[in-house]
Amino acid sequence: MTDQEATQQETTGQEYFDHLIEQDSRVEPRDWMPEAYRKTLTRQVSQHAHSEIIGMQPEANWITRAPSLKRKAILMAKVQDEAGHGLYLYSAAETLGTPRDVLNQQLLDGKAKYSSIFNYPARTWADIGAIGWLVDGAAICNQVPLCRASYGPYGRAMVRICKEESFHQRQGWEILYELSNGTPEQKQMAQDAVNRFYGPALQMFGPPDADSPHSQQSMDWKIKRFSNDDLRQRFVDMIVPQVEALGLTLPDPDLKWNEDRGHYDYGELDWEEFFAVIKGQGPCNRQRMQRRREAHREGAWVREAAAAYAEKTSQTAASALIGA
Ligand code: 3HC
Repeated sequence: MTDQEATQQETTGQEYFDHLIEQDSRVEPRDWMPEAYRKTLTRQVSQHAHSEIIGMQPEANWITRAPSLKRKAILMAKVQDEAGHGLYLYSAAETLGTPRDVLNQQLLDGKAKYSSIFNYPARTWADIGAIGWLVDGAAICNQVPLCRASYGPYGRAMVRICKEESFHQRQGWEILYELSNGTPEQKQMAQDAVNRFYGPALQMFGPPDADSPHSQQSMDWKIKRFSNDDLRQRFVDMIVPQVEALGLTLPDPDLKWNEDRGHYDYGELDWEEFFAVIKGQGPCNRQRMQRRREAHREGAWVREAAAAYAEKTSQTAASALIGA
């Protein structure tokens, strides 16, 4: 292709892309897209996939300690769902042109981010309830608008993920509900868990809008539909009546209904802590990455066996074709 043809293709491509975005239609993998759009989506979708995979760890630690067979079965199903979410998301990310092993290597090398929330420990059984109710609740609030993301494979993956997240949130709520209606010690355990997870769950929505370098462009491209602060506010408004129904409280003395705004006001979050956690200095960053690297090493034989099997079956299919 000559330079002139390439420039022409880019101009037509850009016009068509702009048209798709303006019409609130979907960009598909075969469509021309600006490199910056491809790059930001690869970044967001792969970070999201990494979060799902690392996010299995705090809860998987509790499968053997869950208080009944029923609770173990439910928790195991939830952790498996998270693995599935990671797989849908890596598949969506791959359609943008970067192979999954490259994305995975970025995580293993510590070059890729994953959600801050998964660097906090799950200390008690009530934490599993708080993770389900608050963390999966925040995830739903953030991810339902992503079902309408302008990039087709991402939006479609999110539809299925959000359905499963709703079940996850209900299981967390139910754990907390039982504990908060149990003995005084159980209720206290539920309150402690909510106290520890409230701030980090609100930080999952990302830095304040003024400190969010990607939000505006991502909203212009209709990848994100709302800003970080808008979604955080929506989440706070949603959980206040829920915490009242649980008979628990949120650990924020500044939380109060603002009649003029029609929203709850809430106190400043600890952004210093947030930035430290995403730089690798959270309570569990090292342990999470160490476990992920170990799991990757231990899984090498599975990848090798799958590759050998794929090779063998493709050879058999090729011989059958020649034979035919
Ligand atoms: N944890 C870690 N890093 C974060 C973060 C968080 N909570 N919030 C923001 N960041 C990072 C961004 O990735 C970006 O880093 P980069 O420039 O190095 O890539 C930087 O901080 C600036 O933030 P921006 O607000 O400008 O970035 P975005 O526009 O991408 O917004 C986001 C951040 C809201 C997290 C957005 O990427 C998003 O909506 N992602 C999809 C949802 C997602 O990934 N959720 C993670 C949780 S998954 C989950 O909850 C699993 C469930 O099973 C519980």
